[in-house]
Amino acid sequence: MFKKIILSLAVSATLVSVLAEESICFKLEGKLGEEIKALVYKYKNSLEPVSINNGNVSSANVEEIMAEVEAKIEAKKIKQIKQKKKQEAKQKMADGKNIYLSKCQSCHGAKADKEAYNKSRALNSLTLQEIQAALRGYREDMYDRGLAIMMKPYASILMDNEEEAVYNYIQTLK
Ligand code: HEC
Repeated sequence: MFKKIILSLAVSATLVSVLAEESICFKLEGKLGEEIKALVYKYKNSLEPVSINNGNVSSANVEEIMAEVEAKIEAKKIKQIKQKKKQEAKQKMADGKNIYLSKCQSCHGAKADKEAYNKSRALNSLTLQEIQAALRGYREDMYDRGLAIMMKPYASILMDNEEEAVYNYIQTLK
């Protein structure tokens, strides 16, 4: 009987949402019961319901179904993490663009190909390492091509991760 309840929950595609509403009460017993309980607690905060496309199952393969439920939840989580990473990468790019357009391009050119005041090299010809070394140099008064005093304030406002974002944006201008 107990197995049948679990089974119909899993198969009716509402395991997580039903549990989230906490509207169903049943007894979990034995080893399998413990495992299912652990599973339920582990995933009780998952937001999306899980669907199982397995119409005619017998009570013998409850474990199989639970494994399938777990695999599906896991796959969804991985997908969500991937989407988040993608979004963050996009955001990084957007910030780099924003920073370059508002704070750098007036001197270094819309395509990052200008030699600012005939002193700097074109930023689009520099590697990330060269750009970071130069910016660090300006901040620490260790780098000067003749007009460091003009560049220092701009080097000082950039955070480490913004330097890379600006560099990434510059690569899109080539
Ligand atoms: C007001 C004009 C101006 C602005 C705005 C400006 N720069 Fe510069 N930048 C310069 C000048 C001038 C130099 C050359 C300084 C020197 O003599 O060393 C330079 C040099 C550099 C260098 C070193 C280039 C090399 O050849 O080694 C980098 C990297 C750089 N700037 C990045 C930036 C970034 C990134 C921004 C925006 C956050 C920015 N700059 C904003 C004027 C500017």
